[in-house]
Amino acid sequence: MAGGVTVNIDGMMGSPEEIRVSALDRGFLYGDSVYEVVRTYEGVPFALEEHFARLSRSAERLAIPLPLRSTLLREMRRTLAFAGCKDAYCRLIVTRGSGPISLDPTTASKPLTVILVKPYQPFPEWMFERGIRVAIPQIRRTSPRSLDPAIKSGNYLNSVLAVGEARAAFLDDALMLDGEGNIAEATSSNVFILRDDEVSTPALEGGLLAGVTRGLLIDLLAQHGFVCSERAISVEEVLDADEVMLTSTLREVMPVVEVAGNRIAEGVPGPLARKLKSLFHEYALERTRRDAEWERP
Ligand code: PDD
Repeated sequence: MAGGVTVNIDGMMGSPEEIRVSALDRGFLYGDSVYEVVRTYEGVPFALEEHFARLSRSAERLAIPLPLRSTLLREMRRTLAFAGCKDAYCRLIVTRGSGPISLDPTTASKPLTVILVKPYQPFPEWMFERGIRVAIPQIRRTSPRSLDPAIKSGNYLNSVLAVGEARAAFLDDALMLDGEGNIAEATSSNVFILRDDEVSTPALEGGLLAGVTRGLLIDLLAQHGFVCSERAISVEEVLDADEVMLTSTLREVMPVVEVAGNRIAEGVPGPLARKLKSLFHEYALERTRRDAEWERP
């Protein structure tokens, strides 16, 4: 399946044209699903422990029963082997399943597992060399008291609308505010800033996804002598920062050079973003190389 997307639905594998989800699936109808995006480095999935832990937390919050971890692992292995790409994007989705067209979650039959694998598509090099420009959109992150952003559910409309606002302004992404007007996270990544020698990232209490990359970077920063504080961060602090960075499984660490039309420092990527990107990449390569249990394609 080189080049394209390999689909695995409850163990049936093929191309997206061959293997399809029912139009009655609640993931399709309501975004009633949970998911994780895992990346492989040289054929080995990175940070599976952390991704499975978050998948369990999300599923528990929505009361979606997950298949056994051994089943999910077996199907991930099969799909990655079938796809045959060394650096892969792997999306693991569990929906509540299908049933009558009804909001009532108890009417769902049984959960459906969908795995999508495609070659990992690197972001354009200029984004790391020159940095990206982001909007602060009108739409805010949902409150933890409505749809908690800590749940990685299939309902991404909040982010879809924010990306739409960014695109309309010809910008690359959006930094979303929480209900208090503080910075929460970007549409599919977390945010770190460096200001007056202090590294900080919005605290989880504000309502955001506990990114796997975010958690690992906080540890890596500590190991390299930086203290990273998790706290409320205002828009003014971001605009006044020496560096702003986005972090995620797919981006690792990406510099931001403009926020809502304001240049960050000199408007060029700073040394911390570069250093963290390389530290994180090295860590990912080293950790996946150590993971000898995983069969490489
Ligand atoms: N997105 N915040 C949001 C809203 C996200 O969707 C993501 C991940 C992150 C970063 O999390 P992590 O470091 O675990 O990738 C933060 C994935 C990559 C996605 O949906 O494609």
